[in-house]
Amino acid sequence: MATSYLLPCAVLVAVLVLFVSVDAAEGAIREYQFDVQMTNVTRLCSSKSIVTVNGQFPGPTVFAREGDFVVVRVVNHVPYNMSIHW
Ligand SMILES: *[C@@H]1O[C@H](CO)[C@@H](O)[C@H](O)[C@H]1NC(C)=O
Ligand SMILES: *[C@@H]1O[C@H](CO)[C@@H](O)[C@H](O)[C@H]1NC(C)=O
Repeated sequence: MATSYLLPCAVLVAVLVLFVSVDAAEGAIREYQFDVQMTNVTRLCSSKSIVTVNGQFPGPTVFAREGDFVVVRVVNHVPYNMSIHW
């Protein structure tokens, strides 16, 4: 009876250790979506429309550690072409 409970536990532990060691070797996958859009901002009493990423200017901070795999999905909602730099 006791061994029938122990066997699945041993398999689970082995799978978790394998996952952790792969994770440590290759890093995490970090996914971001950048929605490039026009946003109205008011500065010094005047309002104007500027290009933002997710409504922010400058754009959002991308957090990653060495060895991580970063995926940035960019959706351009403005009517002209642009490039993204960081
Ligand atoms: C910005 O403001 C103008 C004038 O009020 C408006 O026509 C336009 O739709 C606004 N744009 C956005 C992205 O909110
Ligand atoms: C955006 O770039 C593509 C590829 O270079 C080009 O075919 C297209 O005409 C450009 N669109 C605008 C609005 O400039």
